Amino acid sequence: MNHKRFQPCLIHLNAVDSTNNYAANLLKETNVVNGTTILTKRQEKGRGQRGNSWHTSPDKNLIFSTITFPQIEGQAVFYLNIAASLAIHKTLEDLGIQAHIKWPNDVYVGDKKICGILIENQLQGSKVASAIIGIGLNVNEEDFPEDLSATSITLEKGIVPDVMDVFEQVYAYLDFYMDHLMNSNFDLLLRRYYKTMYRKDEWHNYKDAEGTFKAKIIGIDEIGRLKLQLETNQVRVYQMQEVKYC
Ligand code: BTN
Repeated sequence: MNHKRFQPCLIHLNAVDSTNNYAANLLKETNVVNGTTILTKRQEKGRGQRGNSWHTSPDKNLIFSTITFPQIEGQAVFYLNIAASLAIHKTLEDLGIQAHIKWPNDVYVGDKKICGILIENQLQGSKVASAIIGIGLNVNEEDFPEDLSATSITLEKGIVPDVMDVFEQVYAYLDFYMDHLMNSNFDLLLRRYYKTMYRKDEWHNYKDAEGTFKAKIIGIDEIGRLKLQLETNQVRVYQMQEVKYC
């Protein structure tokens, strides 16, 4: 089961509640190969981070989940976020779109979100036995609700790419970065992540349980927590949900 590279076993669906749910059931019921991917045209109950939902118009966007067996130590689990977000970043770069990765794994163009990633892991002892990498990339969507600061490839470039062509690029880069991860090339992954990190080394306002403060992102710690440096040089470390970008 522990294959290094992806074996492109692709399952195409017309509609499903959530590709992550479908992948989780598949994992429970059968033996699947590393890289097995569920793609759908329509997702009825897409799930996002922090229990949010993920809405996407039928046929217009890339919606898929890939099952992988990383066999990495649990403390390196954050590197799955890095591998997945870098795969999206590189695909967009090839299309001429300069994106940034907003910690932990959102992909932004300017201040607009273009891609969301939901990774669900199954631990076995100290290792990540399997992970479901769920990706929602806005491809041809042109109308977003007013209150959503979002964009798509079409809005950024004025082109209408074939969703499956975009998928092939993302999948190839995901395989590439996962291979680095399984070969423990953590330094390379981290260097690329830092190069593309949204607001890195810039002064901005953030908000935690105690209030708003000015700080700059200086990186992540060994388990993927966000490190913020204050004007006093004090460094604060945050898990997801403990801090907000203002
Ligand atoms: C987020 O930014 O909140 C993460 C959104 C993740 C959405 C994708 S779409 C494919 C996969 N299936 C799901 O139900 N969610 C992920």
